[in-house]
Amino acid sequence: MRFQRPLLFAAFMLGTTLRGQQPNMMPLPAEIKPSEGRLVIDGSFHVGLTGYQEARLQRAADRFLVHLGAETGIPLADHLEGDALESDATKATLVVDCDHAGETVQSVKEDESYALEVGPKQARLTAPDPVGVMRGLATFLQLVDLDSKGFGVPAVAIHDRPRFQWRGLMIDVGRHWMPVDAIERNLDAMELLKLNVFHWHLSDDQGFRVESKVFPKLQEMGSDGHYYSQQQVKDVIAYARDRGIRVIPEFDMPGHSTAWFVGYPELASAPGPYSIERKWGILDACMNPANEKVYEFLDAFIGEMAALFPDEDFHVGGDEVNGVQWKASPEIQAFMQQHGIKSSAALQAYFSARVVGLVEKHGKRTVGWDEVLQPGVPTSVVVQSWRGQKSLAEAARQGYAGILSAGYYLDLMQPASRHYGVDPMEGATAGLTPEEQSRILGGEACLWSEYVTPQIIDAKIWPRMAAIAERLWSPQQTKEVDSMYARLARVSRLLDFVGLEHRSSYPLMLERLTDFKPIDNLRTFDEILEPVKGYSREEMRSYNSSSPLNRLVDATPAESDRAREFAKLVADWSAHKDEIKSELTMWRNDGDDVLPVLQGSALLEEDIPLAQDLAALAAAGLEALEYLESGKPAPQPWVTAQLALVDRTSKPRAELLIMIAKPIGNLIQAAKQ
Ligand code: ACM
Repeated sequence: MRFQRPLLFAAFMLGTTLRGQQPNMMPLPAEIKPSEGRLVIDGSFHVGLTGYQEARLQRAADRFLVHLGAETGIPLADHLEGDALESDATKATLVVDCDHAGETVQSVKEDESYALEVGPKQARLTAPDPVGVMRGLATFLQLVDLDSKGFGVPAVAIHDRPRFQWRGLMIDVGRHWMPVDAIERNLDAMELLKLNVFHWHLSDDQGFRVESKVFPKLQEMGSDGHYYSQQQVKDVIAYARDRGIRVIPEFDMPGHSTAWFVGYPELASAPGPYSIERKWGILDACMNPANEKVYEFLDAFIGEMAALFPDEDFHVGGDEVNGVQWKASPEIQAFMQQHGIKSSAALQAYFSARVVGLVEKHGKRTVGWDEVLQPGVPTSVVVQSWRGQKSLAEAARQGYAGILSAGYYLDLMQPASRHYGVDPMEGATAGLTPEEQSRILGGEACLWSEYVTPQIIDAKIWPRMAAIAERLWSPQQTKEVDSMYARLARVSRLLDFVGLEHRSSYPLMLERLTDFKPIDNLRTFDEILEPVKGYSREEMRSYNSSSPLNRLVDATPAESDRAREFAKLVADWSAHKDEIKSELTMWRNDGDDVLPVLQGSALLEEDIPLAQDLAALAAAGLEALEYLESGKPAPQPWVTAQLALVDRTSKPRAELLIMIAKPIGNLIQAAKQ
């Protein structure tokens, strides 16, 4: 093999040296004390259930054994003991002791704490209620490792509880439909990372995704046939409850609602007909707050959905209303004048207050995006801060409960470290009083699905989501980025063992791009690329909901581990000259070797300039290294020419960025001196 992998080796060594200092786990626990010895995991491993018993606990233990079996390759599926199974649980390898039942409908008040003591002969997991047991089992699964003697768990004492009660993930199934199995895979991953809220964004301009029996034209005309039956919704809720995860539905209104109007145009602020939107953005279609029939419809609809979704919280959207239809409607303008409503924002506040009344009538609390924070909207609303943390601080000051999503948008393709650095209690919220701070319930990552299909959803969420999970669970001072990345690399692999596809789908996508030819060269090339950031994809190409998402930019992970590691080597170049040279040599060769692969595929042709630039950049880096080794400063004309190359190759092509351009620029700068 021509391509050596020194960096992967280095990452492995890092993992090894961290062992003992930092356990193999995410999120890190509140308290952890390493102890002496090691619990062996072999074919004799059993779980015993003692104390409070319920079927959900037994299923959690069964699932744990299936996952542990998948992780180790040791068959463990029926290794469960307990009073309910007429066997002695106290002799099991892992004794689980639960004290009492949890909440009938899980809420922010659920006790998720647990204690896990692992000794050389036995492990003991104790928790007040079943959700705490699930959190402890997730910890145990992650602690398993393999040493020269076999699988085991290092002896340890853990006392753990979450920092925030609300640790969520929102998935948009409007822009692209996500079938139940894609949702359930991600619920499995959420359990492993101790996340506890699945926010299901169920309607948008591009689709209405739930069966309504009261208003069947919603799904019949607004979904292209891609919607969840009420039975499927119940199944997902039960699946989530089994994993200690709440399900909060969102029906976005008054904007982002075109799909409703296909079947019910009378709800809109302008006459129809309407069709399902294929483009995305902030569109004009909007419910009519001046029409009393709209509230009658919503009363019946919210009543139906409030009965279907048991959670106490009910999300009504409220984001991105542009007011265009409202301004154009004489009827709505007259209504505003009559009621002394002076602006579109005030009209939306009127609408929000009416909707909150309906949600409360049906026994729920309302959640809304931060646009709902307007005078006149009741403080019973939970504000989801997405446009900046200031709205979270403002909401808390005004008496609203809030959750943070600004900084946690997974679809913006930012690195894990950036999300990790965002804390609901820091920045704009730092100056709040303790009472105001107590209103901040936690945070939620968001995956908007404009560029997401069921095939790639896992890779768009994981492993970066794990960094957010840690931010929301672990103590505030848990901030060490290198440790986070070392543990993230391991958890990412473990996730594939519990059924996620974020790593296993990647080679398949590359093979499709090469028409099933060998992918080694393409992979080496792609390893230093990242998709463009933020909302820039839509500026670079015209997309709609039926655009194929099968190009290199769709396969490329959000974050290049290899480029990040390379940047670290360059930052301390004098100690890493050999590794830098080896990487650069590999990339210089790969930039040439990958060309025939790119030329032979209609989908990859657009990436040819990037490969040529990779070769040129790597060559420039090697020259810089030669200057550095010679001890003589590089001549100014050479430096100027190479920095111009770096500048040019730092710009996106084919919606991709070469992530080693900047560190090579740093190497060239170093060679100047
Ligand atoms: C949003 O991202 N429009 C809430």
